[in-house]
Amino acid sequence: MKILVIGTGYVGTTTSLIFCEKGHQVTGLDLDDRKIQALTSGKLHFYEPGLEELLTKHITNRNISFTTGTETAIKENDVIFICVGTPMGKEGSADLTFVKNVAESIGRYMNRYKVVVTKSTVPVGTAEKVTNWIIKNQPTPISFDVVSNPEFLREGSALYDALYPDRIVIGTTSEKARTIMEELYKDFQCPVVQTNPKASEMIKYAANSFLAMKISYINELARLCDELGINVNDVSKGIGLDHRIGPLFLRAGMGYGGSCFPKDVNALLQTAKENGHLLSILDSVVKVNASQPLYFMQKIKQALGGDLQGKTIAVLGLSFKANTDDTRESPSLIIIEKLLDDQVTVRAHDPVVHLDNSPLSKVVQQFETVEEAVSGTDAVILCTDWDDYKSLNWGELKPLMKQPYIFDGRNMLDKRKVESLGFHYIGIANH
Ligand code: UDX
Repeated sequence: MKILVIGTGYVGTTTSLIFCEKGHQVTGLDLDDRKIQALTSGKLHFYEPGLEELLTKHITNRNISFTTGTETAIKENDVIFICVGTPMGKEGSADLTFVKNVAESIGRYMNRYKVVVTKSTVPVGTAEKVTNWIIKNQPTPISFDVVSNPEFLREGSALYDALYPDRIVIGTTSEKARTIMEELYKDFQCPVVQTNPKASEMIKYAANSFLAMKISYINELARLCDELGINVNDVSKGIGLDHRIGPLFLRAGMGYGGSCFPKDVNALLQTAKENGHLLSILDSVVKVNASQPLYFMQKIKQALGGDLQGKTIAVLGLSFKANTDDTRESPSLIIIEKLLDDQVTVRAHDPVVHLDNSPLSKVVQQFETVEEAVSGTDAVILCTDWDDYKSLNWGELKPLMKQPYIFDGRNMLDKRKVESLGFHYIGIANH
């Protein structure tokens, strides 16, 4: 099939490439000329393992091309995926400006029947809005269908998640569109949930909010475990082995970050509010998440004698989780902000994030190696769960530091091991 994917971010680029893998012909469309130029020459404008290799392969095989030519791209393709951003807008609701612009262009330029698929995470009722935006901009009426088909991929494992999804959700009331979508996904080995667009849109928010809830649940329990001297990792293991609970998303840490969970939980809360409901559990999920980095900061301060002024601290990890260069809503940045407020000299390191042009680069010094970052510091704070940090030789790092303190915000290290090297170790209820 010939597919147009509008938006070349994480979701758009990954979606394009997995459809190439399944034998479809894909055009990637974006208004940003620089992104299109980079992609055309096989370069990604973000870090995602495995994606660039696949991009090169499909450019070479001519399965994919990129363009900024909206009109031609819409006219030439009959299945159009909307993969543009839906950032957090007013009062936490999703900002649909980009989706609206795309829908209006589709209406303006469509020349025959099209299936318009929303892959971006969009609030309940958006399929209906997209339909109206298209109709309003059509010079003459032409039939089309709007399908909700949310994406569940994670940054850092986008390719694997998109190629081997747990399920595919198709939200449409049109038989014609359903048949086309089934044909498109026929080579994927997973259950397909057929439903209407509203339920499909809700499924995405409900899934992300549920996962965020698991994280806030374990993080709140971790605080109590800390108080009681209980190892929260054992608790996660013990409850996660119950099939009804499941082992994933029960890792205690500094709270969830990234571009999805914070945005989606807030958008669902906002949808509820607009409809006269308070989702009190989710409301608490947000509160727990917001206070988790502060809880950790408190522990850091306490251990270092209460006053951090004049201290030098290494922060290892800037991205919101491992295997991505995304720092959006990263707990690490919250920690850095608090340290700077307390007049701490911060020495940062991350395997892929470069602060370069960010305002932080003016107040935080970033180092190429962990050895440099930890030199002369009073403490190290582990903020991102990069594998590189799990295998560090702490015996060699210790003599470089002024004081041997490790604060492990991701419970990555073996407490006993680093303590045996003479470190003071504090994790998140990692006893
Ligand atoms: C998420 C969803 O998983 C994905 O399905 C959706 O489509 C987009 O949002 P992503 O934001 O890429 O993906 O990251 P994910 O791996 O889900 O982690 C989210 C946050 O939760 C990270 O900050 C991570 O560090 C944190 N987390 C995750 C925990 O704190 N504990 C855990 O046990 C798991």
